[in-house]
Formats: sequence, structure tokens, C-alpha cells
Amino acid sequence: MNTGKVDVLLGLQWGDEGKGKVVDVLTPQYDVVARFQGGPNAGHTLEFEGQKYVLRSIPSGIFQGDKVNIVGNGVVLAPDLFMDEAKDLERSGHNLKSRLHISRKAHLIMPTHRLLDAANEAAKGAGKVGTTGKGIGPTYTDKISRYGLRVGDIFDGFEEKYAALKARHEQMLRALNYTDYELGETERKWMEGIDYLKQYTIVDSEHEINRLLKEGKSVLCEGAQGTMLDVDFGSYPFVTSSNTVCAGACTGLGIAPNRIGRVFGIMKAYCTRVGAGPFPTELFDETGAQIRQLGHEFGAVTGRERRCGWIDLVALRYAVMVNGVTNLIMMKSDVLDTFETVKACVAYKLKDGTVINEYPFDVEGVEPVYQELKGWKTDMTQITEEAQLPQAFRDYVAFLEEQLETPITMISTGPDRKQKIIR
Ligand code: GDP
Ligand code: IMO
Ligand code: MG
Repeated sequence: MNTGKVDVLLGLQWGDEGKGKVVDVLTPQYDVVARFQGGPNAGHTLEFEGQKYVLRSIPSGIFQGDKVNIVGNGVVLAPDLFMDEAKDLERSGHNLKSRLHISRKAHLIMPTHRLLDAANEAAKGAGKVGTTGKGIGPTYTDKISRYGLRVGDIFDGFEEKYAALKARHEQMLRALNYTDYELGETERKWMEGIDYLKQYTIVDSEHEINRLLKEGKSVLCEGAQGTMLDVDFGSYPFVTSSNTVCAGACTGLGIAPNRIGRVFGIMKAYCTRVGAGPFPTELFDETGAQIRQLGHEFGAVTGRERRCGWIDLVALRYAVMVNGVTNLIMMKSDVLDTFETVKACVAYKLKDGTVINEYPFDVEGVEPVYQELKGWKTDMTQITEEAQLPQAFRDYVAFLEEQLETPITMISTGPDRKQKIIR
């Protein structure tokens, strides 16, 4: 039997590594692009032909020809936000309806899930996660505790199911003392979003994907967030509520583990994080501010300042391990173009002085052990051939490959689709 392949592309750090750009670049090599987890907490940016697009729930393969794009069962979908996103794309001339397929089993984010997200954050006070406020945690909570509503529910007796779950949420909000809200207009638009959703091809995506694979078609799975935000392996509890790791592609799309081929791990040449939680290599000094400014490190969804720091090889080794990364892709190398020196964290020093190389249970208070490397001091934004790369940068790349025991097969030197070096 001729069977197609499934490759997985995911973030190795705390999100915003540049996944959207790389999916767009790789899509011409695939027949299908599919999202397997997360929801509108994601903001995937693509730039080409002088245009910039930010995608939240729609896969980043949507701009390349007539490829089928699938929103898998592992995704959580907010109908109102989806409608805004889809209408924006249609207005800019991209016809989605025939190419975007949505799983019947994807869970719905209700307006009250967003209120619960805010209420939980308020209740946590100083210990809050710093969520995107999109209702992600409460929606996955309802999924796991078997209360959730799915896309497939919208066709039959939906009003009653919705009302019952909404009543449950309202009770929870009262218990959290969170009562100062108006649902009126939000709820009206949400219901409009439900009707809008019905115009799309709603599918049993696990059947569709496996049928396509049987026909020999190839699939690229697009992850959202990053490994260090994974609910099992990330810096818990400062994580998102889904499995962002490679295994999430299996459960989030109904793909068997033995189908997985290449695993593309996306990382920045440095590191960022948005929201609360430990970040061992965070820089609070002028260098951190410089990276933020040069890299335009402000959230695509919330506009929040991203925290910036040096690349963390302890966390990356861990991410390479749990995902089985076969190809590393390094983004935003150009952001460090002007630095005299760059640093890479190769180990952590614990409070008692012990030096460790393995990512531990708790990273709070660990001190990064750095290796300093020479900066390349060259504008790399126009370079598209490996031979033109400056020697100091090649040394940085070779050092990272050795430390992570994995080849770096693509280097990105700017936000545009064209700014890349394939190795
Ligand atoms: P994602 O969530 O992983 O898709 O990443 P985001 O889109 O949230 O953040 C990445 C940001 O970096 C976006 O603004 C991209 O346009 C931009 N970007 C991607 N690759 C590069 C690069 O190589 N250099 C620079 N300077 N910017 C990049
Ligand atoms: P992309 O796909 C960066 C972070 C939030 C918060 C934590 C939990 O663009 O890389 P949530 O709303 O998911 O409950 O928030 O996770 N977070 C992200 N950070 N990029 C993202 O997505 C993120 N999605 C969630 O800031 O710390
Ligand atoms: Mg993002």
C-alpha cells in the first residue's frame, strides 16, 4: 500500500518561535496542513509580498495554493474569533471555504469560558499564569471533565446544550465572586459565529487525514505554543492546557505514532517568553531591551512585551528529546547581527552549587552557566546562500548543532517568506 508521510512542526521554546513563517515556507512540499492543538491563544505571523498576516485558529498553509487545511479535533475553537479571522482573510481575497476543513470533534470555546479564564486568573492573584484570556484553560478543563461542547454538537439541539453548560459556568463564576460582566453582545456575536461555522466543511478529520495518507498524500502538522508551555513537560503550572509536543499531533488529529516522519523543531537564535513563570536565561538589562527592540518582541495576540534572554540549551536539549526532533530550524538570527558577543546557556547551577545539564523538575532560582561566543557583526537579512554566511555565525550554528546533537537545516534571517537559508 502506498502511504503518505506525516511531518510535525512545533515550537521548542515558550512559543512565538516563528512557526507560522516556516509552515508557510514548507507548505508547497505538502498536500495537507493541519493544526492539532491550541486555539486563538496562538498568533502565527506570515509575511510575503509586502503583506503581513496573523493567524490564530486557521492553519498557516492557507496562503499556498489550493492545499487542504484542517483544524483538528485537538484544537479549541472560538466561533466568533474564527469568524473575524476568516472574514478578514476572505476580504483580502483568500477563499477559504472549499479548502478549510474543521473537525467535528474540536471543542468550542464559549464566552463564559473566557470569563472563567479571567476569573481564575483574578483568583490566583500574584500566582496568575498570565494567560491570553481566550478561555483556553477552562475549555480544555471541560473537555477533560466531559462537559465540553464540540463542533459536531451545533447541528442538533444546540441551544439546550449551550444553555445547560452556560448555567454551570455562571454558577462557577458566582463561586469565584466574578459577577460583574455583560454577556449580551458577545453572546449574540458568538451565536452568529456558530451559524457562520455551518458554512464550512465540517469533517471527521481523523478519517479524512487517514484516507488522504492511504492515497499517498503528505501532511504537515502545525503546532501552536511551544514545548516549554506543554501541560505535561513545560514549566508547570505556567503552561498552556494542551500537549504541544509531537505526541499531541497523534491525539490531536488521529494519526498513529508510527506514521510520524520528520519532526521540525523551531527555535529562535535567542529566547523569549510572554506571561508569567520561570525563565532561567531572562535578561533584565540593556541587552534584553535591545533584543526586544531589534526583534520587535511584542505579542501577536495580546500586544504584551515579550521577556527576552539568551538561548537556553538545557531547555532545548530537553525539547529535542521529548519531541524526537530530526531537523532544527533557527529563526531570527538577524536580530543578533549587531552584537559583539552572544551567549548560550549550556548548564544550570543549582542553589547548592551543583551544576546540571538535564532540565529539572523545578527551574525556579537556577543560575544559567553561559558559554560566550563571538558575534558576527554582519547584516544577514539579504543572505540566501549558506556560502555567504559570516564565519562567526557559522561557528555559532556548529556549536548549537553539537550541543543539541541535531542538524540545523534551515536558518531564517528576516520575517519575509524569502528570507531563509536552506541547508
Ligand atoms: P509563531 O507564533 O511561532 O508563529 O511566531 P510569531 O508570529 O508569534 O512571532 C514571530 C515573529 O517574528 C513574527 O513577527 C514574525 O514575522 C517574525 N519573524 C519570523 N522569522 C523571523 C526572522 O528570521 N527574523 C526576524 N527579524 N523576524 C522574524
Ligand atoms: P504561539 O502559537 C507564546 C502563553 C501565555 C501564558 C500561557 C497560558 O503564537 O506560539 P493560555 O492563554 O494558553 O492559557 O496561556 O501560555 N501562551 C503563549 N505564549 N505564544 C503562544 O502561542 C502562546 N499561547 C499561550 O502567555 O503564559
Ligand atoms: Mg505567536
